Amino acid sequence: MIILGIETSCDETSAAVVRDGRWVLSNVIRSQVDLHERYGGIVPELASRRHVTTIIPTIDLAIEQAGISPSALDAIAVTEGPGLAGSLLVGVNVAKTLAYVWEKPLIPVNHLEGHVYANWLTLPGEPEVEPPTFPLVCLVVSGGHTELVLMRDHGDYGLLGRTLDDAAGEAFDKGARLLGLGFPGGPAIQRAAEQGRPGRFALPRAWLGESYDFSFSGLKTALLRLVEQYRRPVQRNRRSTARKPFPEYEPPVYAPTLPVADLAAEYQEAIVEVLVEKTARAARDFRAAMVLLAGGVAANALLRRRLQEAVPIPVRYPPPILCTDNAAMIAGAAYYLYQRGVTAGLELDVQAQLPLVTRTLIRT
Ligand code: KG4
Ligand code: ZN
Repeated sequence: MIILGIETSCDETSAAVVRDGRWVLSNVIRSQVDLHERYGGIVPELASRRHVTTIIPTIDLAIEQAGISPSALDAIAVTEGPGLAGSLLVGVNVAKTLAYVWEKPLIPVNHLEGHVYANWLTLPGEPEVEPPTFPLVCLVVSGGHTELVLMRDHGDYGLLGRTLDDAAGEAFDKGARLLGLGFPGGPAIQRAAEQGRPGRFALPRAWLGESYDFSFSGLKTALLRLVEQYRRPVQRNRRSTARKPFPEYEPPVYAPTLPVADLAAEYQEAIVEVLVEKTARAARDFRAAMVLLAGGVAANALLRRRLQEAVPIPVRYPPPILCTDNAAMIAGAAYYLYQRGVTAGLELDVQAQLPLVTRTLIRT
């Protein structure tokens, strides 16, 4: 079964063609980082406008690179949520139109479920990825979500824990902002940390007792307190930004003695340590056969290594290009949803707050 996937939930415009939920035939990703980086974060209005102009050429290219014609497609899959409503709307409306015109089934996909199913995908020319085995524990860590999930079978999710405040990716992004490291923050902190030494500064870990829940906002505040000591007052030219439609990001100015690398290293360590400890404990408690990482933060090298060291069972994570937002994961998850009879009609609407675990299945 060949599925076209469409993903526009945040700031990547992506279209992909995937066979049988496992084989990536094409995966075109148009990043919007160039558009948002000067604001130090995603500006939703700009994101949706860029999706509008980019989505059709992106789909055309994905079909061309897959070496097929639209008639060879068996279904169209699209991210229905969670994400930015204005961004989601672009993908959902294009998918509905194509499903109608090409007379193909429409499959709605939860973005987070897509991240999980990136672990089933094999990229073109790469060695075959064996499908993960159940029961498994999956840590979904993205810019908007941090959820620890027990998966007993396809589509069978049990929520073990989640963040009570900031998501792990959000913590990376906010930390990078405080350190003046730019956007997106995860890769920037990882790079800076390579030159640094954790432990020189003490940042807190929120263990929250025996629960599997997470909290990262205290960590961010602790970093703020540390960097404030190095902050230098600056005279900003207010008039130059006053006429801009959105306020631009003005990086903080610090004394040259700010130990960026050591702070980044300790900050990364603090996030990773809690993620690893709780995931490893959940894997033991629920006798998981495997641990999966999913979402943008799954690209983090320290997280991958530490988790592998912490559990005696296999740890799996997608290649970096399939960790961050992409449409291949949407087309992949859609295959397994379709096996269970999940499709949508043209009344499909976006669900900006859609949770992973209590999604209602539309059975046909
Ligand atoms: O899954 P994703 O592309 O988008 C969402 O669904 O949110 O995740 C983006 C997040 C950002 O917060 C980014 O900073 C983080 O993933 N990220 C990383 C790394 N690469 C991306 N965090 C830590 N280390 C990385 N190497
Ligand atoms: Zn994502």
